[in-house]
Amino acid sequence: MLILGIESSCDETGVALYDSTRGLLAHALHSQIDMHVAYGGVVPELASRDHIRRVLPLTDTVLAQAQLTLEDVDAIACTVGPGLAGALLVGTACANAIAFALNKPVIDVHHLEGHLLSPLLSNNPPEFPFIALLVSGGHTQLMRVDGVGQYALMGETLDDAAGEAFDKTAKVLGLSYPGGPAVSKMAEQGTPNRFKFGRPMMHNGDFDFSFAGLKTAVLTQAKRLEAVAPLTEQDKADIAHAFVEAAIDVLSFKAFKALQATGFNRLVIAGGVGANAQLRLRLNAMANKHQFKVFYPELHLCTDNGAMIALAGCLAAQRDPSLLKHDDTFTV
Ligand code: KG4
Ligand code: ZN
Repeated sequence: MLILGIESSCDETGVALYDSTRGLLAHALHSQIDMHVAYGGVVPELASRDHIRRVLPLTDTVLAQAQLTLEDVDAIACTVGPGLAGALLVGTACANAIAFALNKPVIDVHHLEGHLLSPLLSNNPPEFPFIALLVSGGHTQLMRVDGVGQYALMGETLDDAAGEAFDKTAKVLGLSYPGGPAVSKMAEQGTPNRFKFGRPMMHNGDFDFSFAGLKTAVLTQAKRLEAVAPLTEQDKADIAHAFVEAAIDVLSFKAFKALQATGFNRLVIAGGVGANAQLRLRLNAMANKHQFKVFYPELHLCTDNGAMIALAGCLAAQRDPSLLKHDDTFTV
């Protein structure tokens, strides 16, 4: 079964071809970071318009890479949410138009399911069941995953997502968007223990998170220093270091608690913050110590991409073949 996957939920247009027997055949990505950087964040209208420009050329690119045509595709999988409404509309309209023209089915994919399954694209894929820590720009969730489509939410952030906290910390420190990689890099130069921020909700016994207080702690510390003198590069690095330590303490601790609560010994990390070097180091050390296995998507598939959407669509169709039945009645 050959699936064309289309992702357009935020600031990356991703298109890919995934084959149920041969795996990922091709994938192409266009990141809009350069376009949004001047605004310090994603401008939804610009994002939608850029997806319009990119999605068909990227589709041609993956078909050419795989030496296939749209006729060879069995179904088109596309991200239907969550995400920016206009951006999602571009991908879904495009997927439905191709499907309508070629009389093929469309498989709706939840963006987070794509992230959650993305480690299955690696050379060392996890077996089910596993705990998934989903850490993206908009979500922070702990999920119990018993199989494809069998997901139980154990806990999630009550306010900001971890990625959002990284991005806001970057803003306070005057670093460029997207903030996660910049904060992570700066934290490497930080002096350990010069500042210490609280670990929100770490010991409250459930699997929920809260990152809004941590963001405020960063802002308060920065303002305190700025009241005396402009922030030096070392000040910024020290704040970034304290922030990253607090964030990864909470994320890794709660993920470990979820493993203990379920008795599972496999942990999957997915979403943009899963690219974070400090989080990976910490989790790898914990996995060694406590004898669990931790799985990550390949680094370039941590952030948004079409490959994870094509894969999720393919696995969904294998699980439920009725998704491949094409209803060509067109209602307005
Ligand atoms: O999964 P993703 O690409 O998009 C959403 O679905 O939201 O995640 C984007 C988030 C951003 O907040 C970005 O700052 C964060 O992932 N991120 C990182 C790193 N790379 C991306 N955060 C920490 N360290 C990184 N290396
Ligand atoms: Zn995402």
